Amino acid sequence: MIVLGIETSCDDTGVALLKDGTKLLANLLSSQVNLHAVFGGVVPEIAARKHLDTLLLLTMKALEQAGLSLEEVDSIAVTNRPGLVPSLLVGVTFAKGLAYALDKPLVAVDHLEAHAFAIFLEREVDFPFVALVVSGGHTSLFLVEDFGSMRHLGATLDDAAGEAFDKVAKVMGLGYPGGPVIDKLAKGGDFKAIPFPVAKTDGYSFSFSGLKTAVINYVKKNPNYNAADVAASFQEAVVKALLQKTLKAVEEFGVPRVVVAGGVACNSWLRKRFTEDLAKRNASVFFPSPKFCTDNGAMVAFVGTYRYGRGERAELSVDVHSRVL
Ligand code: KG4
Ligand code: ZN
Repeated sequence: MIVLGIETSCDDTGVALLKDGTKLLANLLSSQVNLHAVFGGVVPEIAARKHLDTLLLLTMKALEQAGLSLEEVDSIAVTNRPGLVPSLLVGVTFAKGLAYALDKPLVAVDHLEAHAFAIFLEREVDFPFVALVVSGGHTSLFLVEDFGSMRHLGATLDDAAGEAFDKVAKVMGLGYPGGPVIDKLAKGGDFKAIPFPVAKTDGYSFSFSGLKTAVINYVKKNPNYNAADVAASFQEAVVKALLQKTLKAVEEFGVPRVVVAGGVACNSWLRKRFTEDLAKRNASVFFPSPKFCTDNGAMVAFVGTYRYGRGERAELSVDVHSRVL
């Protein structure tokens, strides 16, 4: 069974062809990062227009790489939630067009579910597991009980973790996206140098806007600040907040397995701290390779495969949603 996965929920256009849920025949990504860099963040209108320019070409290229024709695709899986509405609309409208023209079934995929299951493109993880999805648009914790069966435990009340990385980097004049630059810069800094605050939030919710403001204030009040120390201390505060809630879920549900996914899961300090702290609790942590952490079509095709296999079909009238349903 061959599933075409289409991802356009933010600023990356992703197209993949996955055979039988295991064999990735093509996985192409077109990043718009340079287009949005001048604005210091994603501009939804620009993102949507670029997806429109790219999607057909990328799909043709993926088919060529896989040595397939469109007729050989069994199902079309597309992200329809959550994300930027203009961006989602381009992907979903394109997928609907293909499904209608080819008379192929359409499957609507939740972007966060796709991130949580991206690890399965590389290895299996026993159920249940705790999944932390941390990206530029989302910070959510789930208890994953089975394929497609996820309990949403909590999310950020304000900024997403990646958004905080991007905003702090902007204030420090480090460019966009901020995550990779801060990650690199922090390697030469002391993570204990500045005690940035970790928000005290209820249950499984997160908050990063107070931390972001604290870093901005610190940078403004200390013009000769040590950038590496600020980066390392900020990063430590983000990771501490993510770890606290993840460990709480591991303990409360007695689940010794954690998957961390989304763009921020590329962060080297996060990987080190999660690996060490979970090992102390006899729990394992799994990180997808960076190319499967950030947005991609393969993870959409993977979720599309098991949902299609269960007989799930989206109507051609299926809508897009900016938020988690
Ligand atoms: O998953 P993703 O590609 O797109 C969204 O769905 O948002 O994540 C992008 C986010 C950006 O905020 C970027 O700064 C962050 O992931 N990011 C990182 C790192 N690499 C990417 N954050 C921290 N450390 C990194 N190494
Ligand atoms: Zn994402």
